[in-house]
This record gives sequence, structure tokens and C-alpha cells, in this order.
Amino acid sequence: MKKLYIETVGCQMNVLDSEMVVASLRRRGFELSRDLESADVLLFNTCSVREQAENKTYSALGRLRSFKSKNPDKIIGVMGCMAQKDQKLVFDRAPFVDLVVGPGQLAKIPELIDEISAGNGKQLAVGLGRTAGSVDEIRRSHETFDPLRDPAMRPTPFQAYLRIQIGCDKFCTYCVVPNTRGPEQGRPPQQIIEEAKLLAEQGCLEIILLGQTVNSYKFRDGGKTTRLSDLLHQLHEIDGLKRLKFVTNYPKDMTDDLLQAVRDLPKCSPYLHVPAQSGSNPMLKKMKRGYTIEEYREMFGRIQATLPDAAVTSDFIVGFSGETDEDFQLTYELVKECRFKNSFIFKYSERPGTKAVDLYPDDVPHDVKQWRNNELLELQNKISEELNHKLLGQRVEVLVEGPSEHAKKEHGDAVLEQSGPVQLVGRTPCDRIVVFEGNTRLTGQIVPLMIYEIAPHTLFGAVATTHVSSSPLTMLGA
Ligand code: 5AD
Ligand code: SF4
Repeated sequence: MKKLYIETVGCQMNVLDSEMVVASLRRRGFELSRDLESADVLLFNTCSVREQAENKTYSALGRLRSFKSKNPDKIIGVMGCMAQKDQKLVFDRAPFVDLVVGPGQLAKIPELIDEISAGNGKQLAVGLGRTAGSVDEIRRSHETFDPLRDPAMRPTPFQAYLRIQIGCDKFCTYCVVPNTRGPEQGRPPQQIIEEAKLLAEQGCLEIILLGQTVNSYKFRDGGKTTRLSDLLHQLHEIDGLKRLKFVTNYPKDMTDDLLQAVRDLPKCSPYLHVPAQSGSNPMLKKMKRGYTIEEYREMFGRIQATLPDAAVTSDFIVGFSGETDEDFQLTYELVKECRFKNSFIFKYSERPGTKAVDLYPDDVPHDVKQWRNNELLELQNKISEELNHKLLGQRVEVLVEGPSEHAKKEHGDAVLEQSGPVQLVGRTPCDRIVVFEGNTRLTGQIVPLMIYEIAPHTLFGAVATTHVSSSPLTMLGA
């Protein structure tokens, strides 16, 4: 049997892509290897959203130079967004790489590996650029090969990603994704439902629907259009599935039918990731986000009116071209006002091939970006902690993911055989992590917990009995 080593960085799309690639190579007789040295094929699934991610990948590749010279038969491949963005440049910067494959060409990996093994030299497969052909040609050159699935590659055996859309047509000026992942294309609803049924049969309780702008999902078939809200209604019917989530949302497409579906369908988690990116109109305009901050606020108000208990999270870019202290202050005020459950904060990183490179200089000094990043993060952390505090003494339902890292370290491989309680982790519908003591048999179940302690990023709970009375805390040990 040949051995495959795969390393994945970046977003959930990449995690899912790696799952598919592993599934396709297993069909060709490969098995997964945890260590690099013993593998016959080494694949790096890469990210291009920020320069730092690319630098890390090139450094990791650089460390393989002498390994490859001692083991010339091993095949080293680069896949994902950096492969699509850099194409032949990957071979220039890392000449010992054999294979470069963009995210829309992953289905070809098995045959490309065969070509290399047959002595036919380096292989490159990438999608067409956004102006390199007709719309149809470009679309066809960025294809996914869902629904190949590999349960061993999932976040946990009970959770799976399911792609409903590929690509992006929004062209925010700072973002490389419309170039690396090609045009937005919704997958046919029937395919999505079939795949979800398969995942449920394999024991998945939670499905996270993926799309770069997942709530822009539309599939037109004759006169009929299926929206994300329609899909959620259909997925809700599938036996065995208990939780449905979807990421990432585009603020302008957060329509009422979607919010109402989340409100009305008990399996839909009230968790919405809706990146604002900035609180300042001049910045939003330069970013070409397609909304004003007043429109974002209006959308946020509709979420609160329809889903008062929803956890809303956001992304922000600080230090985009020309961002003044006043612009940053407006972002700061927005975070204070909206009180997001969590925000991911990024320092602007200029990306080759994006509109911002041609239009706007990357002129905010690094230390200013860093300062703004720290300020916003500090504010967000304070808010996240305050929101967590509201859960003290409350009952929450978690999907138990299994033993915590602490328990795994303490008990090693024997952790699942422990007869007594060990430290477990579970996730609430709003994506909060709760640590609690319980039997490992609870893994993969939805369990009620009472929250008794709060730390900045973790909640601590105890298994609650169904009889919630004045002294509700009861430990269900074995
Ligand atoms: N620089 C910094 N952050 C970026 N993001 C996307 N492009 C860039 C960039 N060039 C951030 C956005 C997006 C998240 C996934 O990454 O906030 O929502
Ligand atoms: Fe990038 Fe904007 Fe598309 Fe998101 S919506 S993937 S930020 S271009």
C-alpha cells in the first residue's frame, strides 16, 4: 500500500477539499500516514488569503529540499489557493515540487500522480483566470468533485462540512478568493440532499454548509429557484441530522426568508457569521463590499428582531489602504454597539492579482495595523467574556465531541477505555466550547449541561438531569 501525507491550512473549504482528495486516493489504494518521512506522496493544501500563510507554506516546503534530494521518488504536491494563484511560480520557488493543482482541479490528482510515477515529469493543473475564456469555459475549469467523502478526515465523526457553493463573484478589492476559486456556482439541490443523507447514514449529527457567500446560494432549474432557506427546509427533514449550520454569510444577502428559516427550524443553530470588515463607509466603499454601514446596521437589527438569542460573529480587516484613526474609531464603535459573540481580526495584507493592488496603496504602517488589531481584539475579548458570563447558571445543550486535549494527554491512547469520568468537550449550537466531566460513552450525543464557570475562551459545565430544580447540578459519572 502506498502512503499519503497531507497537511492542510486555511479555511473550512480546504479542510473539506483535503477530505475529498484523501477519499479519492484511498480508492487508488493509498493509506494515510501521520508522518512525513514514511509517505510516498506528500500534499500541502494551501491558503492565499494573507501573505503570512503563503510564507509559512514556502518555508515548510523549503524544509523538504534535502528530503527530496535523498528521496527522489517521493512525490511532493502543492494544492489549493496558492497553487492556483502562483501556478508555475511554485516550481520556481520550490523546484523539487512535482505537482501543482488548483482548488478546481483536485479530481485530477490521482491521474496526475500516475503521470509523475510513470516518469512523465512535473504536472500542473489549474483553472482558467477570470478573463481567460467564455463564462462557461471558466466555470467548467473550476469544478468540485464532491461528493467523495472520507469519514476519517472529518472534524469529528459526528460533524461534517458539506459544500453547497463554490467560488465567489463579489470581488471585494482586497480579496484573492474570486481569482483562486473562480466564479460562484451553486451545486444542484438534489446532489446536496443526497450527500446530506449519506452523511446522516454515516452517523453525522451536525452538518455545516459551506460557501464563500453561502447565503447568496441560488440554483435555477427551469423556472424554479432554490435558495438557502429552501435547502434548509429540505435538509431539516433528514432523519438522524440534529444540527444545521452555514458559513460564511454576505451581509447584503441576509434575507428575511433565511432568518425566518433559522427561527422556525429547530435543527438550525442560531449562529450567524456575517463579516462586516469595517465600520467606516469610505473603507467599505474602497473595499467594494456593496453595502453601507447603515445597511449593515439595518441587517443586524433584522437578525436581532427575528432571532433575539442568535450568536452573531464577524470578521474585520484593520489597516486597509488609507484607513485613518477616525475610520478605525468607527469600526471600534460598531464592535461596541453590535457586541458580536466573536470577531476574527486581520491586518490588511496586500494580495497580488486583486483590484486593491492597482487602485490603492498599502499605506498604513505595520505598527499602526498591529496597534489597531490589538485594540479591537481587546475590546472583542472583553465583550465575548461578558456575553459568556450571561450563561452562568444556564442550561445549554452540547454536542459532545470527545475527550479534551487535557484528558488525551493524561490518559494517552487508553482515554476511550476509562471506566470513570474524564474531561470531555462539547459544542453549543452557538459554537461555544464547554468542558465538563463525563463518561466517554457520551461522545457523539447531545447532552444538557449546566454552566458553572467561565474562562475567556471556555465554559465549564456539569451534566444536568432533566429535573431542573433548585439544586440542579448532578454528575452523571459512569
Ligand atoms: N488581508 C487581510 N485579511 C483578509 N481577508 C480576506 N482578504 C484579506 C486580505 N487581503 C479576511 C477577511 C475575510 C477573512 C476570511 O479573511 O476578513 O472575511
Ligand atoms: Fe473574498 Fe469578498 Fe468573496 Fe468574501 S465576499 S470571498 S471577502 S471577495
